[in-house]
Amino acid sequence: MQRVAIVDPTESSRETLRTLLLGVDFVWLEAECARYEYFFDVIAQSMPDLAIVSLDADKQRALHMIGQLAVEHPKLAILTISKDHQALLLSLQRGAKYFLTEPVELEDLLSALRRALGENTGLQETSVSNGQVSSVIPRQAAPSSVIAVLGSRGGVGTTTLAVNLAATLANDPNHAVALLDLDLALGDADIAVEVQGMENISIADLARNIQRLDMNFLKRALVKHEATGLSILRHPLEIQDMGVIHESHVERIVNLLKISYTHLVLDLSKAFLPTDLMALRMADQILLVAQLELGSLRNVVRLNHLLNNTEEQLGERVRVVVNRVGSEAVEEGISLKKAEEVIGRPIFWQVPNDSKAVIAARVAGQPMVKHNPKSKVQQNIQGLALALSGKAPVAAGATDSKKGWFSFGKK
Ligand SMILES: Nc1ncnc2c1ncn2[C@@H]1O[C@H](COP(=O)(O)OP(=O)(O)OP(=O)(O)O)[C@@H](O)[C@H]1O
Ligand SMILES: [Mg+2]
Repeated sequence: MQRVAIVDPTESSRETLRTLLLGVDFVWLEAECARYEYFFDVIAQSMPDLAIVSLDADKQRALHMIGQLAVEHPKLAILTISKDHQALLLSLQRGAKYFLTEPVELEDLLSALRRALGENTGLQETSVSNGQVSSVIPRQAAPSSVIAVLGSRGGVGTTTLAVNLAATLANDPNHAVALLDLDLALGDADIAVEVQGMENISIADLARNIQRLDMNFLKRALVKHEATGLSILRHPLEIQDMGVIHESHVERIVNLLKISYTHLVLDLSKAFLPTDLMALRMADQILLVAQLELGSLRNVVRLNHLLNNTEEQLGERVRVVVNRVGSEAVEEGISLKKAEEVIGRPIFWQVPNDSKAVIAARVAGQPMVKHNPKSKVQQNIQGLALALSGKAPVAAGATDSKKGWFSFGKK
């Protein structure tokens, strides 16, 4: 836990800053001061890791005090806040190292805090509060990976793959993973992973409180599957609440979660709502789930066309995953080779049909990584998790299925 002291003579902005800081679980608000002239003594007594100075109540006095602090405590990191860019510049000349422009947004504050405390005190990758490792980890290292899972039609296994991929990733102790159920009307990710002591909080509550959303609030909204460590943000409990969730809410929630999680897995609806499109824009990789039947493959072509024509060229992020390979019930005699020809791009991954394992885990409300880890479908999803992180050879498409790790397809 890193210790912070703040000075701001204006009560309202001091209170806003205090509220923001109380929502950050890797800092401790050690001291709060309402007068610039007393702050020097406050610092000498509390010796925090970071001093935050709001300049606007009296810029001259604040800048003078920063000059003194920088001389007396050269190792103290100083972060300044102001509406006035000129004042911020002067504060840097006097010895402040970081600054934020008013009004301060939580995301900006978090990234400034991580930079300031990381550089000055070597903030570690895990934070400890009350002697326990925090469930939300302020991360320093690699950027988090956002994986959107999109179905080419209903029932192709989007949720099955999203849930089990997320749980597989979460089962690695080096990962912190959150699954977001963005199938806002009819989502069922919380059936596939049953969570003990589930509070009635969902993405709708986050959307309603988006203005005061901080890390603590966010943490409370995510339920945790203890066996794997997977955190889940549920779909609205009442279908009529889906209207309160807008694309900007999804953007903010995903941005905030990226600070704390190594992987975010997004289970999307097939309605192409603005919330789905935002999720697709925010994704690093889009798993487009298909089956070897005409309706699904035709939609893969249509979706590729749509995504290729977006401003962000989202088509480049698409990885086609064929699910239930080998199932006579769903396949229509279309070979993988033919499927690749039809969709005009390689199949990234093939997931075998394994009704027994999939249904047993779903009925138990457990992800397969815990319920039946040795099943061929779970072994395959483990491979998919590695392939997505670039740590394993990509499973074969139709063209080189003999060389692949997991090639269950019929030619
Ligand atoms: N690899 C698989 N092997 C066997 N059965 C599977 C496999 N993947 C999914 N299923 C089955 O397919 C059905 C639909 O799966 P799921 O609910 O994951 O699909 P979905 O695309 O999310 O559906 P929806 O359109 O309702 O959101 C379920 O009964 C599930 O058990
Ligand atoms: Mg689903």
